Amino acid sequence: MTQDEMKKNAAWAALEYVPRHTIVGVGTGSTVNHFIDALASIKSEIKGAVSSSVQSTEKMRALGIEVLDLNDVASFSVYVDGADEINAAKQMIKGGGAALTREKIVAAVADKFICIVDSSKQVEILGQFPLPVEVIPMARNYVARELTKLGGRPVWREAVITDNGNIILDVFDLKITDPITLEQQINQITGVVTNGIFASRAANLVLVGSADGTLVLK
Ligand code: A5P
Repeated sequence: MTQDEMKKNAAWAALEYVPRHTIVGVGTGSTVNHFIDALASIKSEIKGAVSSSVQSTEKMRALGIEVLDLNDVASFSVYVDGADEINAAKQMIKGGGAALTREKIVAAVADKFICIVDSSKQVEILGQFPLPVEVIPMARNYVARELTKLGGRPVWREAVITDNGNIILDVFDLKITDPITLEQQINQITGVVTNGIFASRAANLVLVGSADGTLVLK
């Protein structure tokens, strides 16, 4: 079974956890693209979706799923998204697709975060995957120097501008043993919009797609 088929297994398994007749929060990425296909199969049974990126919005609209403005939605129960890495405490690194800030905002509003991953994303310690940090463009070099002081090796993802008009620094060589503290420390650097550690708001449920089916971690 390919990695993409495992992603697809996890994504379709998430349908069972989507309460009907409510609004659904939708993440971004190749695993979520499978989830959007799954969501389209029950589109008449949901009230619409809140999206975390232009990419997911376009895909949902093309499939006839109504996309609502988050400012018009006070609350909703479930946010479904992928991750680049996830540990046993359900803390994650996200932002490989540069959508981390909107993902964190939509996740903050949701009651529950359901993370859909293939088994390759499970790690003991976060940090093997370079940590994405969204930065206001004029602060790029200042923020890079501050990230170096924290022990990381920031690399500018040059070809990318985020949906919010900002840039991404990918931070290599971090061994993230205390994700909550590092998430807060990096967010305190002036010029950082947000970073891809999702620890203060970890996932509530993880669906891990593997060759043997989908494992549910509660
Ligand atoms: C998007 O910015 C990311 O947070 C994605 O959720 C993450 O990179 C997982 O992506 P894939 O599902 O494509 O592996």
